[in-house]
Amino acid sequence: MKTYRIITLNEFIIERQSEFPYAKGELTRLLHHVGIAAKIVHKKVNKAGLVDILGEVGSTNVQGESQKKLDVFADEQFIWAMRASSECCGIASEENEGTIYFDDSLSKDGNYIFCMDPLDGSSNIDVNVSIGTIFSIYRRVSPRGTKPRLEDFLQPGVQQVAAGYVIYGSSTMLVYTTGKGVNGFTLDTSIGEFCLSHEQISTPEQGQLYSINEGNYVHFPMGVKKYIKYCQEKDDDSNRPYSSRYIGSLVADFHRNLMKGGIFMYPQTAASPQGKLRLVYECNPIAFLAEQAGGKATDGKQRILEIVPKHLHERSPFYVGSTNMVEKVEEFIEQNPDNL
Ligand code: AHG
Ligand code: MN
Ligand code: MN
Repeated sequence: MKTYRIITLNEFIIERQSEFPYAKGELTRLLHHVGIAAKIVHKKVNKAGLVDILGEVGSTNVQGESQKKLDVFADEQFIWAMRASSECCGIASEENEGTIYFDDSLSKDGNYIFCMDPLDGSSNIDVNVSIGTIFSIYRRVSPRGTKPRLEDFLQPGVQQVAAGYVIYGSSTMLVYTTGKGVNGFTLDTSIGEFCLSHEQISTPEQGQLYSINEGNYVHFPMGVKKYIKYCQEKDDDSNRPYSSRYIGSLVADFHRNLMKGGIFMYPQTAASPQGKLRLVYECNPIAFLAEQAGGKATDGKQRILEIVPKHLHERSPFYVGSTNMVEKVEEFIEQNPDNL
C-alpha cells in the first residue's frame, strides 16, 4: 500500500519557524490559534441552513451594514482565539468600530496585533456560496506591556509579518504567507487537521479571467471601462476574449484567480470615491499574498502595500492578480484620467 507523508499546518509552521533567526515561537502560537478558530467557523458554516444561524442578527456594524449571525460568530471566535494565544495584544475587525485590547498581562505583553475581516462575502452565506475569513498580522510599534495604540494598526501593508485567508468552499482551505512564499492547507475533516495541499503557490503572470461587478459599469472610471472592453475583444493570439467570473466574495474570487491566473477589480465610483474594499483587513492581506505568489496589487496607480492608512476602516480601489493584467489596467487608467 502506498503511503503519503501528510504535513499538517501545525507541523509546517513549527518547521518554518527556523527560517526566522530570532523567532521565539510567538508567531507560531498565534498562527496555530488562527487554525483553531478557522476549524470552529468551518463547522458552523457547514451547518448553515440546518440550525438557526442564517439571517440577520438585527444589529448593524460600523459601516451601517446589517450584521449576519455568522459574521458575529466568526468575529467572536477569532477574538477568543487571539486572546487564547496570549501573543496578541489587540485586534481590528470589520465588525467593530474601535480596536479591541486584551487586558491580561500575558496578552498585554504580546508582540502582535491582528486585523481581520472575520466573514468575507456575507451576502453569499444564505445561498450556499463560498465565503471566507481574511487576516493580517503586524508586530506592534508601541512598547510591549502597554496598551496598544492606533499607530500599531495603521502601519502600511509592507510591515505585515503574516497574512492569509480561510476559504469555506467545496473544501475549507487556509492559505497564508509569512513573507517567504504562499502555502495552502486543505482541511481534512476526517482527522480535523489542515494538511499541506498547495506548496509554494505561484500565480500565472498572465491569466484569462477578469472579475468585477459589471452591474456598476456605467459608474466606473473611463480607464476601467476601456480595460473591460479590451478584456472582451478578440486578439490575434487567441488569448482574448477573457472569461468573466465574479462570485462577490473577495476571498473566493481572489483564490480562483490566484490558482488560475486572472485579475480582480473593485474600482472607485463617483458615489464611492474610495471604492468599497477596506485597506487594512481586506486589501493589504490579499495584496501581500498576491505579491508573494508573484502577482501584483495596486489602487490603480500606487502599490497597495505602500499606502499608509489614516483610518482603521479606510477603503481603497483595488486591482489585484496576474502581474501583466494589473499592469495593463494601470496603463488604461493612466491614459484615461478622469475626476472620479
Ligand atoms: P463583506 O462581506 O466582508 O462585507 O465583504 C464583501 C465584499 C467582498 O467580499 C466582495 O468582493 C465585495 O464586497 C462584493 O461587493 P459587490 O456586491 O458590490 O460586488
Ligand atoms: Mn469582506
Ligand atoms: Mn466581512
